Formats: sequence, C-alpha cells, structure tokens
Amino acid sequence: MAVAGLLCFTALFVPAAQQNSPSNELPDTTVDRVTGPGWWPTKSLASTKGYVGSDACVKCHSDIGSTQSASEMAKAAYQLSGGAAGEPAPGDFVSGSYTYRFIPNNTLPGHSLEVTSNGRSVSSPIVWTMGAGDHGQTYVLDENGGLYESQASSFSFIHGVGLTPGHKAAQEGSLENALGTPLKGADAVRCFACHTTASSANSKLNLADAVPGVHCEACHGPGRDHVDAVMAGQVLQARRAIFNPASLTPTSSIDFCGSCHRTMMDVVMREPEPGALTVRFQPYRLEESRCWKTTKDARLACTQCHDPHAPLVRDTKFYDQKCLSCHSSGKDAKHNASGGAWTATAKICPKATADCVSCHMPKTDVPEMHSKFFDHFIRIVRPGQPVPN
Ligand code: HEC
Ligand code: HEC
Ligand code: HEC
Ligand code: HEC
Ligand code: HEC
Ligand code: HEC
Ligand code: HEC
Repeated sequence: MAVAGLLCFTALFVPAAQQNSPSNELPDTTVDRVTGPGWWPTKSLASTKGYVGSDACVKCHSDIGSTQSASEMAKAAYQLSGGAAGEPAPGDFVSGSYTYRFIPNNTLPGHSLEVTSNGRSVSSPIVWTMGAGDHGQTYVLDENGGLYESQASSFSFIHGVGLTPGHKAAQEGSLENALGTPLKGADAVRCFACHTTASSANSKLNLADAVPGVHCEACHGPGRDHVDAVMAGQVLQARRAIFNPASLTPTSSIDFCGSCHRTMMDVVMREPEPGALTVRFQPYRLEESRCWKTTKDARLACTQCHDPHAPLVRDTKFYDQKCLSCHSSGKDAKHNASGGAWTATAKICPKATADCVSCHMPKTDVPEMHSKFFDHFIRIVRPGQPVPN
C-alpha cells in the first residue's frame, strides 16, 4: 500500500496540459491495468492481509454504506444458494439425452444440481451462487473437492432453467462430466475477482477470505493502511492510502468500471468479431457511440449516470438530464448542467424532448441470457436495422 500511496501522490504532478486533454488517452485492457503498478479492481495482491472488510469502512462512511449494500453489485454472489440468494429456478432443462434439474434441500449441504440420462442420475451440491438474480444465476458446484461451473443456470425472465451462457451442450456418454465444466486456474480467479471481494492472493483462489459480492475494497483496494492513518490522525496520508476513482480521466474512469464490465480493449482483444452479445459490455458499447467518440467527455463517464454506491435507477426518464447536459440549447444547458459549468453544444432531437434512452439506447435481446439489456451504443435506431456489433 505504501507504493500505491506514493503513486497517488506523484499522479498529482501530471503536467496540466496532459490532464486537460483526456481525449488523447487510449482505452486499456484490464490485463494491462492489473499488471501495472498500484491498485486496480480484480487485481490479485500478494496477500489478503490489507483488507479490513466493508463493516469497518461504513463506521465512518455510513451514508455510502447504507445504499451500497442494497446495490446489485453488493449482491453479485452468495455462498451456497437459497436464503438471500433465492431458490434455483424450478423445472427441467433437456439437452441431448441429459435432463437437468435443481434439487431443493434446505439443510446442509443445501441445494444441488442433478443430471439424469438413461435412467441414471448424479448430483453435486451448490457451494456458490453467482449473479444477483435480476437476469440470471449460475452456480459453482463442488464435485469431490473440485469446483465446477454449472452446466445449467436459473433465468429470471423465463423463471426456469437453461443452458449456462457460453457453454456448449455436454458430450454424450459421460454423466459425471455433464454437470458442469471445471472452474480452475486463472478463469476461477477472474470469476471470483469480478463477483466477490478479497478472493485471491498471489493469483490463486483463497476462498477462505472471500466475501460474496462487490464491496468497498473490491473497487477501492485494501483499506487497512487508510483506516490506520485516519485513526492516527494523519488525514493526508489516509487519503493517499486509498484508491479514489473520482480523480480518473473519463477514459480511465470507464476502464475502471470495465475491469469487470469489460473495457473496449478487453472486447476487441478477446473477440475478433464482436457480436450482439457485446450489448452486455457497456464500456465497449458506449465508446462506440458518436457521443463518446466526438467528446470523450466526463459527462459520459459511467459514474455520471450510475452511482456506484447505489442500486441501478430503473426509470428511463431519470437519464434525460444526462443527455440534455450536452443535447440542448444554451438556455436549457445553464438550467440543466450541475453547477452551471457545462455548456451544451450537441444537436437537439427533432423528434422528442424526453425519455431519450427509450429510443436511443434500446432494450436489446440477448438470447443466450433469455433477457434484454439496454444498449449503451447511443445512436439513431432505424426500424428494421440489425443491432450493430
Ligand atoms: C476511522 C474512519 C474511517 C474509516 C474506518 C474509513 N475511512 Fe475512508 N476516509 C475517512 C476520512 C476522514 C477521509 C478523508 C475525508 C476528506 O478528506 O474529506 C476518508 C476518505 C476516503 C476516500 C477518499 C480519498 C480521497 O482521495 O480523498 C475513500 C475512497 C475512502 N475513504 C474509502 C474508504 C474505504 C474503502 C474504507 C474501508 C476499507 C474506509 N474509507 C474506511 C475516514 C475513514
Ligand atoms: C469488481 C467488479 C466490478 C466493478 C469494478 C464494477 N462492477 Fe458493476 N457489477 C459487477 C457485477 C458482478 C455485477 C452483476 C450483479 C448482478 O449479478 O446482477 C454488476 C452490476 C452492475 C450494475 C447493475 C446491473 C443490473 O442489471 O442490475 C450497474 C448499474 C453497475 N454494475 C455499474 C457499475 C459502474 C458504474 C461501475 C464503475 C464505477 C462498476 N459497475 C464497476 C461487477 C463490477
Ligand atoms: C471480467 C469480470 C467477470 C468475470 C470473469 C465473470 N463475471 Fe459474471 N458478471 C460480470 C458483470 C460485470 C456482470 C453484470 C452484467 C450486466 O448486468 O450487465 C455479470 C453478471 C453475471 C451473472 C448475472 C447475469 C447477467 O449477465 O447479468 C451471472 C449468473 C454471472 N455473471 C456468472 C458468472 C460466473 C459463474 C463466472 C465465472 C465462472 C463469471 N460470471 C465471471 C463480470 C464478470
Ligand atoms: C463498484 C465500485 C465501487 C464500490 C463497490 C464502492 N465504491 Fe466508493 N467510489 C467508487 C467510484 C467510481 C468513486 C468515484 C465517484 C465519482 O467519481 O463521482 C467512489 C468514491 C468514493 C469516495 C470518495 C467520494 C469523493 O467525493 O471523493 C468514498 C469515501 C467512497 N467511495 C467510499 C466507499 C465505501 C465506504 C464503499 C463501501 C460501502 C464503497 N465506496 C464502495 C466506486 C466504488
Ligand atoms: C458529452 C456530451 C454528450 C452526452 C452526455 C450525450 N451526447 Fe449524444 N452526441 C454528442 C455529440 C457531440 C454527438 C455528435 C453529433 C452532434 O454534434 O450533435 C452526439 C450524437 C448523438 C446522436 C446522433 C448519433 C448518430 O450516430 O448520428 C444521438 C441520437 C445522441 N447523441 C443521443 C444522445 C442521448 C440519448 C444521450 C443520453 C443517453 C446522449 N446523446 C448523451 C454528445 C453527447
Ligand atoms: C448517459 C447515461 C448512461 C451512461 C453514461 C451509462 N449508462 Fe448504464 N444504463 C443507462 C440506462 C438508461 C440504463 C437502463 C436503466 C433502466 O433499467 O431503466 C443503464 C443500465 C446499465 C446496466 C444494467 C444492465 C441493463 O442493460 O439492464 C449496467 C450494468 C450499466 N448500465 C453499466 C454501465 C457502465 C459500466 C457504464 C460505463 C461504461 C454505463 N452504464 C454508462 C444509462 C447510462
Ligand atoms: C420516440 C423516439 C425518440 C425519443 C424519445 C428521442 N428521440 Fe432523438 N431521435 C429520434 C429519431 C427517430 C431521430 C432521427 C431523426 C431523423 O434523422 O429522421 C432522432 C435524432 C436525434 C439526434 C440527432 C439529431 C441530428 O440532427 O442529427 C439527437 C442528438 C437526438 N435524437 C437526441 C435525443 C435526446 C437528447 C432525446 C431526449 C431529450 C431524444 N433524442 C429523444 C427518436 C427519438
């Protein structure tokens, strides 16, 4: 943490010209960020000793704590299933000769996933639930001490069971292998890094210390040095010892959320031909839009529309003011911009004056997810046009 503190300090002395031209900054891959110096979300540190847990943070930052704990991100994972995680979906899912079904069991070892083929069944207990449940949940199974990602997932839209996104139908003839795919190595570390807090050390899973969900230190980094410094009355030192994303440039700020939601470069590097599934990767989609490309402006940073410390606002009209901070006449701009410091210069809509995102960020089907996602590629949508990649 001392090193990170030092880096925060030197960052204050970036030449002013550089600070004022974020538009020259290129988006990064998350691998570049987590292998670089200092803190970045999903980074695996040498040990988990620096983490103190969000209960410690909210003793002083109580206002943030009360809303953050209600957010979807705080609920991105659960140990076991049932309880706050909700029950796995009812019903059968048939794939080839295999029939998948979740078997409820409210006493330990808890719910399990069962697969049946030609009259024979095997099952494994669910040890982790991934996903808050708004779109769906996928399970981590324990098969004889090894972790597996479940072949079947629960989907809230269809209130039923289906193939886990990204999985292929299981090979016939091996019932034991049909339950899921092994979750190990870097894939397992990344899965838990995005859905839990403090889950690895030295790039190895360390689930004994993992806290389910995305909490304070998943974004701000381990807080022990920060808390110690506050307690010692060294406020300046305390501020340097914790990562504050508020100081990031717009591009870096989007990359910050992209460490889990996938940055533009993460998508480009991994998928030679990005498809409609990228609608789930908001940083990539947003940076495709003309609004972003022509401005790279802080008014389009994720944090401008979403409070990372609170649940998602599910009311499309709430976002009108965000669009109008650029797309309105000078008179409205003064009225709309927070603090009055912004000037709106972008064109005005010839069609409507409200509910902008309902037309320009359309809800788009992601069939694999049995769900719809708001497309962050802000654009004019013409009837009959395919969803751009
Ligand atoms: C003992 C009280 C205390 C605890 C516990 C505490 N903080 Fe703070 N925190 C402060 C104070 C005081 C400041 C400085 C506020 C200021 O200067 O306006 C601060 C500032 C911050 C900042 C902004 C830093 C900056 O650049 O100005 C962040 C981010 C932060 N805290 C996160 C956390 C997290 C995460 C935790 C838990 C790991 C935590 N805090 C625990 C008291 C505390
Ligand atoms: C450490 C990983 C991580 C980081 C960093 C992160 N997120 Fe998330 N976020 C998630 C996960 C995982 C979920 C999924 C929760 C769920 O299961 O629905 C999520 C969900 C959300 C949701 C709610 C989606 C829904 O459908 O309910 C919003 C909004 C969101 N994130 C915004 C942000 C913003 C803005 C940032 C940057 C300030 C950010 N996230 C940074 C991991 C992260
Ligand atoms: C790079 C970070 C990252 C990794 C790795 C990752 N997830 Fe996620 N996951 C997310 C984010 C971000 C969301 C929220 C997507 C949204 O709502 O737009 C999410 C959402 C989900 C959801 C809810 C459905 C949805 O799409 O909203 C499930 C279920 C899920 N992830 C399971 C898993 C499992 C299981 C693994 C590992 C085997 C995994 N994820 C690996 C970041 C990640
Ligand atoms: C999903 C990532 C994420 C999580 C989880 C998260 N934060 Fe933050 N936090 C941010 C971002 C991004 C900012 C900068 C916000 C901005 O630019 O307006 C921030 C800013 C802050 C600040 C500084 C505010 C300022 O005005 O400079 C404090 C203090 C803070 N967070 C505390 C917490 C505490 C306490 C928790 C847990 C209860 C927490 N955060 C959880 C992403 C997160
Ligand atoms: C940072 C300022 C900014 C914000 C915020 C912003 N835009 Fe834009 N937008 C622009 C600029 C600049 C253009 C390029 C054309 C122009 O100059 O008007 C543009 C272009 C567009 C276009 C035309 C796209 C095309 O391909 O021809 C639409 C539609 C649009 N914006 C809608 C929106 C909506 C809806 C929102 C809110 C969700 C929004 N914008 C937020 C600056 C912004
Ligand atoms: C101009 C405003 C705006 C910006 C900027 C923005 N979003 Fe959104 N976002 C929205 C709207 C509107 C919704 C849908 C809200 C609703 O459910 O009514 C949404 C929904 C989401 C969801 C929920 C998934 C879904 O589609 O249901 C996630 C996750 C998310 N945003 C993440 C991000 C991230 C990460 C960034 C930065 C790359 C970002 N957003 C930037 C307006 C914005
Ligand atoms: C009912 C759907 C609808 C709503 C709501 C809507 N728009 Fe549009 N908007 C359109 C259509 C359609 C066009 C394309 C008009 C054309 O070129 O024929 C458009 C065009 C635009 C353009 C491009 C203008 C140009 O001259 O190139 C911008 C910018 C824009 N809208 C922003 C917004 C903003 C900001 C809001 C919210 C205040 C909004 N829109 C609300 C449908 C809508």
